[in-house]
Amino acid sequence: MAGIWIWMLMMAMVAGNHAAVFDVKSYGAKADGKSDDSKAILDAWKAACNSGQASNVLIPKGTYMVGSMIMEGPCKAPITIEANKARFVAPINPNQLRARNGWINFVGIDRFGLQGGRFDGQGELAWHQNNCVGTGKCGSMPINLSFNRITNALIHSITSYDSKQYHIDVLSCKNVTFRSIRISAPDQSLNTDGIHIVRSSGINVTEADIKTGDDCVSVGDGSQQVNIEKVKCGPGHGIAIGSLGKYNNEEPVVGVTVKNCTITHTMSGVRVETWPASPSEGVARDLHFQNIVMNNVSTPISIDQEYCPYKCDKKVPSRVKISDVSFDDIRGTSASKVAVRLRCSSASPCENVGLSNINLAYHGSDGKATSECANVKPKVTGQLFPPACAVSSA
Ligand SMILES: *[C@@H]1O[C@H](CO)[C@@H](O)[C@H](O)[C@H]1NC(C)=O
Ligand SMILES: *[C@@H]1O[C@H](CO)[C@@H](O)[C@H](O)[C@H]1NC(C)=O
Ligand SMILES: *[C@@H]1O[C@H](CO)[C@@H](O)[C@H](O)[C@H]1NC(C)=O
Ligand SMILES: *[C@@H]1O[C@H](CO)[C@@H](O)[C@H](O)[C@H]1NC(C)=O
Ligand SMILES: *[C@@H]1O[C@H](CO)[C@@H](O)[C@H](O)[C@H]1NC(C)=O
Repeated sequence: MAGIWIWMLMMAMVAGNHAAVFDVKSYGAKADGKSDDSKAILDAWKAACNSGQASNVLIPKGTYMVGSMIMEGPCKAPITIEANKARFVAPINPNQLRARNGWINFVGIDRFGLQGGRFDGQGELAWHQNNCVGTGKCGSMPINLSFNRITNALIHSITSYDSKQYHIDVLSCKNVTFRSIRISAPDQSLNTDGIHIVRSSGINVTEADIKTGDDCVSVGDGSQQVNIEKVKCGPGHGIAIGSLGKYNNEEPVVGVTVKNCTITHTMSGVRVETWPASPSEGVARDLHFQNIVMNNVSTPISIDQEYCPYKCDKKVPSRVKISDVSFDDIRGTSASKVAVRLRCSSASPCENVGLSNINLAYHGSDGKATSECANVKPKVTGQLFPPACAVSSA
C-alpha cells in the first residue's frame, strides 16, 4: 500500500517538474549589465519555443542589458519565462532601440507565463543623452513592455522603476492575468500609462501598485471583460476607461469592473472619457466601479464626454453611447470641490447610470464637496455625499 502512495507521489513530482529548462546563461548571456544579452535571451527563447514540451526559459539573478527584443510564438507547448531575480536595463543610447517596437515585446504566444523581473528603462539617463528636454522630441523612446496576441497567460511579480515613457501595452490579448505588477515612473512624466489595455478580452489586473505620470490603468476600445482589482494607484491620473471616440469605427467596450482599489493624490479617480465630435458611433457599457478609496483625488468620479486635451470642437457632441454604469461604495477625500462630475453627451445621453453609497469630503475653503450632471439622470441608492447632480447643466 505504502509503495503505491510513494509511487504516486513520485509521479506527481515528475509531472510538476516536467518543464524543460533553458538557461539563458548556457546561451551566452553575460548578465554584467553592459554586454548586450538580447541575442542570448532570444536564442534560449527560440530553443524553448520550438521544443515539443512545456518549457521554462530561466533568466538567473543578474543585470541584463537588452535592446529591443521580440519574443514570438506560436510555440509548440506552454512556455514560461522565470526571471525572479533578474534585472533588465535598456541601452543608454536610445538609437539601439528600434523605434517601431516597444522595448520588450511578446507576440502571438498561447499558454504563456512571465514570472518576476525588474525592468529598468533608464529613461532618465537616456533622456539626458538624447537632449530631448532641449529639443522637445522625446517621443522616439518606446521603453515599454508590450503584449500582443497573447492568450491564456499569467504575468506576475514584475517591477519597473525609474523610466520615463514606461508602460505595459496589452493589445489583442485573451484570458491574461497580470498579478502583482509594480510600476514606478515619475509623476511629471507624460504619457506613461501604467497598463494600457486595447482590443482584449478576459484581462485581470490584480494586486498592482502603480505610480506614474498618466493613467494607472487605461482601458481602450474593443476591450471586453476586464477586471481591475486591488490596485493601488497614485500619483498619476487614476483609472480610466477611454479615451474613446477619437477614431473611426472603434469597437465597443463592454464589461469592465474596477473593485477594491485605493487611489491617492491623482488628477482623477475613476473615469470614463470620450472625445467630442466622434467620427463614428461608439459604445461603452456595463462598467462597474465598486469599493474604492480616494485619498485627495481631484475628481474622484467622472464621466466626461467632452474630453478634449487638444484640437477638437467641444460644441459637436460625442457619439459614444455610455450605458449601464455603476459607482458603488466610493469614499474618501476630494482635492477639488466638484467630487462627482457626470458630463454626458447631448447627442447620446448616458443611460442607466447608478450612484450608491458615495461619501467624498472636500476640505477646501470654498465650501463643501459638490457634484455636476449633464445629460444623465442617475439612479440613486443608499447614502450620497455630495448629493447627486447638485448642479445640473442640462
Ligand atoms: C510601446 O510599444 C508599442 C509597440 O508594441 C508602440 O507602438 C508604442 O508606441 C510604444 N509606446 C511608447 C509610449 O513608446
Ligand atoms: C486562462 O488562462 C489560464 C492560464 O493563466 C489557464 O489556466 C486557464 O485554463 C485559461 N482559461 C480558459 C477558459 O482557457
Ligand atoms: C478574473 O476575474 C474575474 C472576476 O474577479 C474572475 O471571475 C475570473 O476567474 C478571473 N480570471 C482569471 C483568469 O483569473
Ligand atoms: C473587496 O472588499 C470587500 C469589502 O471590503 C470585501 O468584502 C471583499 O472580500 C474584497 N474582495 C477582494 C477580492 O479582496
Ligand atoms: C492634495 O493634492 C494636491 C495636488 O492635487 C496637493 O497640492 C496637496 O498638497 C494634497 N493635499 C494633501 C492633504 O495631501
